[in-house]
Amino acid sequence: MKILGIESSHDDTSISLVENLDVIIHLKISQVDIHKKYGGTIPEIASREHYNNFYILLEELKKQFDLNDLDYISYTEEPGFIGALQMGKLFAHSLSKTLKKPLIPINHLDGHIYSVLLDNENKITYPAIALIASGGHTNLYLLNSKEDKKIIGQTIDDAVGEVFDKVSRILFNVFPGGPYIDQIFDSKFNNDQMYKLNDAKLKNPFDFSFSGYKTQIFNMSKNENIDKELLACSFQKQVIDFIISKTKLAIETFNPKTIILSGGVSANKYLRQEFLKLHKNALIPKLEYATDNGAMIAAAAFEKLKNKN
Ligand code: KG4
Ligand code: ZN
Repeated sequence: MKILGIESSHDDTSISLVENLDVIIHLKISQVDIHKKYGGTIPEIASREHYNNFYILLEELKKQFDLNDLDYISYTEEPGFIGALQMGKLFAHSLSKTLKKPLIPINHLDGHIYSVLLDNENKITYPAIALIASGGHTNLYLLNSKEDKKIIGQTIDDAVGEVFDKVSRILFNVFPGGPYIDQIFDSKFNNDQMYKLNDAKLKNPFDFSFSGYKTQIFNMSKNENIDKELLACSFQKQVIDFIISKTKLAIETFNPKTIILSGGVSANKYLRQEFLKLHKNALIPKLEYATDNGAMIAAAAFEKLKNKN
């Protein structure tokens, strides 16, 4: 079954062709260089860029594949920036009308969950625990089956990717912060030289809160004697250990057969390493499918169709 996946919820424009969870064509234009100078994504600019990028990607796709051979067209319906989503929807609808192929609207977060199934032998056995860690969400789910998805914990303020971006802006004026801090951690982390940071205490033990780290880092960054790179390492260690402790608690409470990590922050090396230690069936996406992409949308569409058949 050949499914086109279209993603435009945030600042990545992506179209992928997926056949039974194998990625055949993977096209993506990141807008990071455009939004960088504003220190964050500007929704209005993102929508205009998606409009231009879709046609560039479509030309490329047509060179590699006859679109008449498609079975379905899937696209991100929600959540995301309204204008950016609208661009993807319009593009998907026009393709569907022209090619006379059925449309499958997909929830972006389902896309992240099923991204772990792309290009590998991974299988989800239920019940499963899924952690989505992205720029917009930090959600912990209990999946009793494909149709029964319950949220057991979520952030009460910033999302984890968002706080990586904000801390990086405070310390280095660099956007996006996740990949930048990840790199610093990789070369400079030293457990004996960490600064002390405090975690939030929350009523629901599965919930997250990240904005307190941002305030602590902001205050500490005023001290001229502080080593900003070591402070960034301390932040990453603290925040990832916090997420891992919540996942551990969910495993002890719900005894899942599979645990899933996904979303842009799942590209983080230290998080990937620690998550894989938690369970014998711990699934993480291949690096190219961690941040937003069209292939994960097609993967979610494939799983949705499988349910019906
Ligand atoms: O899932 P995603 O591509 O977009 C949303 O749906 O939000 O996630 C983007 C987020 C950004 O906040 C970015 O800083 C973060 O993922 N990110 C990372 C890494 N790569 C991307 N965070 C930590 N470590 C990384 N290596
Ligand atoms: Zn995302």
